[in-house]
Amino acid sequence: MAQIVQVVDDDPDVRHLIAETLRHHHLNVIEAEDAASGWQQFQSEQPTLSIVDIGLPGKENGIDLLRRIHQVHKEHPVLIVSGEASPQQAVEAMKLGAYDYLGKPVNFEKLKLLVDRGLETVRRHRSIERMRATLQTEYGFEQLLGSSSIFQELIVAAKRVAEVPAASVLLTGESGTGKELFARAIHCSSLLAHEAFVEINCAAVPETLLEAELFGYEKGAFTDAKQRKSGLLEEANRGTLFLDEIGDIPFSLQAKFLHVLEERSFRRLGGTQVIHVQFRLVVATNANLEKLVAAKKFREDLYYRLNVIHLHLPPLRERGNDVIEIAHCFLKDIGQDFGRADLTLTPSGEQVLLSHSWPGNVRELKNILQRAVILADGNTIEDTHLASSLHLVHTNEQQEPALLSPATAMIIPPEGMSMDEMECMLIQSALRQTKGNVTAAARLLKMSREKLRYRIRKFGLRVMELSQDLKENSDDA
Ligand SMILES: Nc1ncnc2c1ncn2[C@@H]1O[C@H](COP(=O)(O)OP(=O)(O)OP(=O)(O)O)[C@@H](O)[C@H]1O
Ligand SMILES: [Mg+2]
Repeated sequence: MAQIVQVVDDDPDVRHLIAETLRHHHLNVIEAEDAASGWQQFQSEQPTLSIVDIGLPGKENGIDLLRRIHQVHKEHPVLIVSGEASPQQAVEAMKLGAYDYLGKPVNFEKLKLLVDRGLETVRRHRSIERMRATLQTEYGFEQLLGSSSIFQELIVAAKRVAEVPAASVLLTGESGTGKELFARAIHCSSLLAHEAFVEINCAAVPETLLEAELFGYEKGAFTDAKQRKSGLLEEANRGTLFLDEIGDIPFSLQAKFLHVLEERSFRRLGGTQVIHVQFRLVVATNANLEKLVAAKKFREDLYYRLNVIHLHLPPLRERGNDVIEIAHCFLKDIGQDFGRADLTLTPSGEQVLLSHSWPGNVRELKNILQRAVILADGNTIEDTHLASSLHLVHTNEQQEPALLSPATAMIIPPEGMSMDEMECMLIQSALRQTKGNVTAAARLLKMSREKLRYRIRKFGLRVMELSQDLKENSDDA
């Protein structure tokens, strides 16, 4: 967008001089001679910066114009020009938020400098706005799927929290309910969106390293500290610090961390300098913090400090039809990734999804659908494709399992399961995957072909039937 400078002055000589000086520097300039026409012009031409003389003829003066402009556009830079007669008014204008002021006679060099600086500020502002908009579409609340009222109420609450940059947030919920997604959405929808989002998983970093990661250290603070390193607390300054799995923060570190939250300052390990920081804290956990407090594994004072704004993410099974809505959206995405654009879910498939309890929540749903798409040769995802994937549910909590890899974790049915039954299921799974090819299945199961054949006989499995079963599934599709 072209940058336009507006000059409002009743003295034609001064006005022209200012305008011509700026035009000489290749700026677009528009002129007005009083507050009323200046205001009209401001609305129609939307200048980037205004230079306004205080003493204007008519009912309103330059200060009135400044007020009007700031009522609709608080950030618009207004450079006030004031004659010697009006120093008081110049002070008033600055109090009202004028960008700067210049006395008359105008020093044109200074004028150019101030205009350049004002325009640069606007440019920076706009690029931050653009960046915020991009972040918003990529990581904002829009990408959180689900129309159920319980979920939508949560989004409304989270959006409200996002608007208050100082508010710390505690996110709880089962694995795969979207805690990390919410943490990012809160950051990206806030005024801090262009600042850093710094994330650390307290469970993934060894206890001894976590402190150094958070606080940073000075050279020589410990044997391996070859040079100074700033910590995540510093990196998150002005932005958001996201501590995932906060329940796993070592007890020894909890008091120290609470101190940072209360004082908003800390020292690097081995350092003496006090470093002040300001960040929004978002923490997440799928552990029950109250229980940890009762068991004396989590400090009560830290728990209260973190539990100011608590957002609990409901499990998928309590979100009504969200599972169907999310499944349709995911299938569209998976279809794009796999080059199969027209994937559809049949009503029988929807029924399977609705009746499953989803211990791994949305993450599990994503994985099940990916498997089902691979199992289905056609574009229709039936109950059979989903049911065979759900047979061995994988709910690996830390990582998304690789496609077509065996289940990484099993959900054991309430009535229990023997090792033999488990082995039998694993073998069936391998045979399904290899379409009944025993040699390939044996390789997958890391056992010899002979051993596998023995087990197939032992469990009374019929290999041809298994592959036939799979074939039928795909034929149905
Ligand atoms: N409402 C949602 N809409 C779309 N995708 C979602 C939603 N909730 C979760 N997901 C997806 O599910 C997966 C898991 O989400 P996320 O990592 O945020 O869960 P989490 O609660 O942090 O889980 P964990 O406790 O295991 O760390 C991600 O792939 C995420 O994109
Ligand atoms: Mg997570």
